[in-house]
Amino acid sequence: MTYAFMSAVQKDFHAVDDLIRANLNSHVPLVEEIAAYLIEAGGKRLRPLLVLLCARACGYSGNDHIKLAAVIEFLHTAMLLHDDVVDDSDLRRGRKTVNAAWGNPPSVLVGDFLHSRAFEMMVDIGNMRVMEILSRATNIISEGEVQQLCNIRNPKTTEADYMEIITRKTAMLFQAAAHSGAVLAGADKDTEAALRDYGLHLGVAFQLVDDHLDYRGDTEALGKNVGDDLAEGKMTLPLIAAMRNGTDDQKAFICDAIEKGGVENLHSMINLVESTGALKYTTDSANSQRCKAQECLSRVDDSEFKNAMSTLINFVVDRHF
Ligand code: IPE
Ligand code: IPE
Ligand code: MG
Ligand code: MG
Ligand code: MG
Repeated sequence: MTYAFMSAVQKDFHAVDDLIRANLNSHVPLVEEIAAYLIEAGGKRLRPLLVLLCARACGYSGNDHIKLAAVIEFLHTAMLLHDDVVDDSDLRRGRKTVNAAWGNPPSVLVGDFLHSRAFEMMVDIGNMRVMEILSRATNIISEGEVQQLCNIRNPKTTEADYMEIITRKTAMLFQAAAHSGAVLAGADKDTEAALRDYGLHLGVAFQLVDDHLDYRGDTEALGKNVGDDLAEGKMTLPLIAAMRNGTDDQKAFICDAIEKGGVENLHSMINLVESTGALKYTTDSANSQRCKAQECLSRVDDSEFKNAMSTLINFVVDRHF
């Protein structure tokens, strides 16, 4: 897919795509088949875009940002392969998930392959600070996923728990993409911090919108099933806010649905999160992250790349897919 805010780095973006394809090679045909299946299904490629924009916004004129962007997309794709197993999801990027088509073991193992290929490419870039940022981020992401697992089917999950989880499991990769792009470019300390924080707020907003769309989105547009979070018994912000605002009966209904899991209650739950203002609360929360992200950008020198990043946060918050 191509969006207007990509035009500033269009050529770089094609180079990333080529590099991704070139690095799918394996001695084992099934690895190539599965990795290509998911990668060729597309995806929004927001994280590699972020690397390119941040590096360019800091005046980078080398070539390693292409490799770094591919590394980040490989890490993301590896996480998706694992995520769909953990979440027992059967639709991704408009196709059957790898776990649905091939089973859980190949999905986990090819996820491991993409993860380690990403680290191989990262070492090849040879920038110690970039390695530090990426290895720390992947560590925190894994912790976030485990923390989320510990909260499954727990209706007492608080907004603070939730924010911690989404910051770890999702925002860390956006933060690492932005931060490592700036570091690669040798940005000054203030710009580096501003872009790192921009990535963080963009990432938190991204997951808030993802969780909103899991109730209010359209399966075809999303290319993944709505209702997956409820099916798993996951307390995301729409339900946490509804627990706060709802009547006693509504609270009991949420507790029961979360403890049981499953999608039988999806329709009633959608009405409930709508009528209690919980979806609006989630959107407001994403909007507040948007403002913080824009504020971070105000600390970065003007450029077409910075303008694209400003459009990118609007795209992320206002998207329907
Ligand atoms: C999905 O990310 C995983 C989450 C963090 C919610 P994306 O929605 O960016 O996935 P693709 O790459 O576009 O398919
Ligand atoms: C994904 O969160 C976070 C990752 C680190 C992959 P979700 O489980 O909500 O992502 P989707 O909705 O399946 O893409
Ligand atoms: Mg999932
Ligand atoms: Mg998940
Ligand atoms: Mg989701």
